[in-house]
Amino acid sequence: METTITKKKSTNKSNNNKSQGQKDKLVRISVSNVSNGSLSETKVQSVKTKMKKTTSSKKSSGSSKLAEKIRNKTAHIGIVGLGYVGLPLAVEFAERGFTVTGFDISKAKIKLINAGRSDIDDISSDRVKAMVKAGRLKATDNPKTIAKVDTISICVPTPLSKTKDPDISYILAAVTWVRDNMHKDMLIVLESTTYPGTTDEIIQPRLEESGFKAGRDFFLAFSPERIDPGNKSFTAANTPRIVGGVTPRCTQMAKLFYEQIIAGVHPVSSTQAAEMVKLLENTFRSVNIGLVNEVALMCDRLKLSVWEIIDAAATKPFGFMPFYPGPGLGGHCIPIDPHYLSWKLKSLNYYARFIELAGDVNSSMPEYVVSRVARMLNNFSKSLKGSKILILGVAYKKNIQDVRESPALDVIKLLEDAGAKITYNDPFVPQITWNGTIHKSTKLSKPLAQKADCCVILTDHTEYDYQWVVDNSKAIFDTRNATTKIKRGRSKISLL
Ligand SMILES: NC(=O)c1ccc[n+]([C@@H]2O[C@H](COP(=O)([O-])OP(=O)(O)OC[C@H]3O[C@@H](n4cnc5c(N)ncnc54)[C@H](O)[C@@H]3O)[C@@H](O)[C@H]2O)c1
Repeated sequence: METTITKKKSTNKSNNNKSQGQKDKLVRISVSNVSNGSLSETKVQSVKTKMKKTTSSKKSSGSSKLAEKIRNKTAHIGIVGLGYVGLPLAVEFAERGFTVTGFDISKAKIKLINAGRSDIDDISSDRVKAMVKAGRLKATDNPKTIAKVDTISICVPTPLSKTKDPDISYILAAVTWVRDNMHKDMLIVLESTTYPGTTDEIIQPRLEESGFKAGRDFFLAFSPERIDPGNKSFTAANTPRIVGGVTPRCTQMAKLFYEQIIAGVHPVSSTQAAEMVKLLENTFRSVNIGLVNEVALMCDRLKLSVWEIIDAAATKPFGFMPFYPGPGLGGHCIPIDPHYLSWKLKSLNYYARFIELAGDVNSSMPEYVVSRVARMLNNFSKSLKGSKILILGVAYKKNIQDVRESPALDVIKLLEDAGAKITYNDPFVPQITWNGTIHKSTKLSKPLAQKADCCVILTDHTEYDYQWVVDNSKAIFDTRNATTKIKRGRSKISLL
């Protein structure tokens, strides 16, 4: 990625006068190879930013003004990226009485939200509609509106490239929007998961191209989102927050900001520390799931049930925390985030062994599932080729519609490559694309289940009647122990 910035300052003497209120500054920006939609090609922009130079004596008045606005809820909140992370945050602030503007590049998303509808599992359309109707929430794709908000939380995707390197192009595109429209005394918080150093090394310099300085003219912090889609107990409103600013005043401002919606805000010493906290949390999950997936492979060889072993170990009241095996990792976090950390460490000549090993084990699970299905069919003198296989659940975890990085897609692809004929049902996912074709969820019926040579449970959605599934299937391969309570027909079930 290459970014060229040319700043052309006026030579007008009055511009050199530090007490002058406003200066016009011409900033020419050439951004190439930013793969996100709005900046996909080399682009040269002329941006006029109005800049107020502040003397250090004026610093504190600005910060207390913003603090006051946050405290009395007159601060106008801006959220960039209205997905699984951004929309719940926007609704939460709006419900606390703030005016919130959400920014997104997706016109469909903006239309949906302004029509009072939600496409996120955990946020009902009723909540969105109430806030839109009250005039406290609106969505736009016009970055110029950023000039009207007091705070910006950036919640855009951070995927991996094909070579598993961090792709921060979405962050860069969002930050460019902010840089070109920001004003003095704003609070800007990055929430997207990323590697330690992103806020300080990449975001801060780009924002400072506006002529404003972080910690003096605006507040900059990192605060990782910890949302767990589908979790009814812990939401954006009651999961403690970590904040780390580029200066202690930035940390304080970010703390005050999040305290408006969350009781527990935990400050750390720097943006890097806050970035690392999130990566520790997600690496912890990835490594423990990798461990337990490997224990599942061991138990298969030892002819033991990994589920029985875990349940028994979990009776220990200290020193053990149960994790469960499955068909592989899914979602926008656990399969991706640890690679941000290992990538960063590679640049420091350090090989992150646990992360890479867990990644290897977890990503091998779809192949293992397919080998177990083949083994099961073999018992009926059947091969994968030509077998009819019914897949139950394609979402990456139960009771949600998210299929991002879902291991179901890998399992289905491998089964199809081996010649199996696949149909699927998922009450949360009406259609899905695999091998370049759109497939629709098939309604569960007795003929469908009975005709299949086997049924493979990939997601343990609560609404399935598992006894019905067992009663009407010839054989079941259960990757989630969803059938644990089933008494009748257990001999038809093979567990991961
Ligand atoms: N989904 C989770 O469970 C979760 C949990 C914690 C942290 N995170 C992290 O939060 C970040 C966002 O994840 P998400 O799941 O909300 O993603 P998402 O794909 O659900 O939503 C991202 C939104 O950003 C929009 N967008 C993309 N580029 C944009 C741009 N340049 N300007 C404005 N809008 C833009 C997209 O159109 C989309 O609506 C990621 O870094 C992710 O790792 C996600």
